[in-house]
Amino acid sequence: MAELHPACAPLAFLLGTWQGTGTGVYPTIEDFSYAEEVSFAHVGKPFVAYAQKTKDSGTGLPLHAEAGYLRPQGDGRIELVLVQPSGIAEVLEGTVEDCDIRLASTAVLGTPSAKPVTATERRFWVDGEVLRSSVAMAAMGLELQHHVVSEMYRLS
Ligand code: HEM
Repeated sequence: MAELHPACAPLAFLLGTWQGTGTGVYPTIEDFSYAEEVSFAHVGKPFVAYAQKTKDSGTGLPLHAEAGYLRPQGDGRIELVLVQPSGIAEVLEGTVEDCDIRLASTAVLGTPSAKPVTATERRFWVDGEVLRSSVAMAAMGLELQHHVVSEMYRLS
């Protein structure tokens, strides 16, 4: 395996595959719960590849999925570029500090048929053995607010 690029050292705490469960809410939909798997991988270049998939906890059917790249910029700054099969693409900027990544969107674009999303905020943070991931969004004409949060444990 390639050596980790030095720029990615602040992200080393994420590398690997994690699995767990989460819950989701939004004023326009029914509350839901889901199973989630995420992976963070590197190829020796100054980015970390991120892939996520989720399933409905009740039916086991696929729910949301997304994939993108975390791009550390030095001095604790980080970028994330991300796409979703729901037709949404996000560009985010933020910080990584003490195993805690906080990001806010600078651009969210949708395909013509995508549901309207104008802003997102995301957090990935590791606390002991647990990786937590959360998303807030301004969607369906509403203010930015919490949508999903999950807790995952390391598989590899
Ligand atoms: C773990 C991640 C996520 C899961 C499991 C999830 C799941 C869901 C579910 C089950 C619904 C309701 C049914 C549906 O419309 O399909 C929903 C609605 C929605 N989600 Fe998510 N979601 C996730 C992340 C996101 C993200 C990152 C965005 C946007 C950046 C997003 C945007 C939306 C929108 C726009 C709706 C439609 C709300 C409406 O129709 O009123 N979701 N999500």
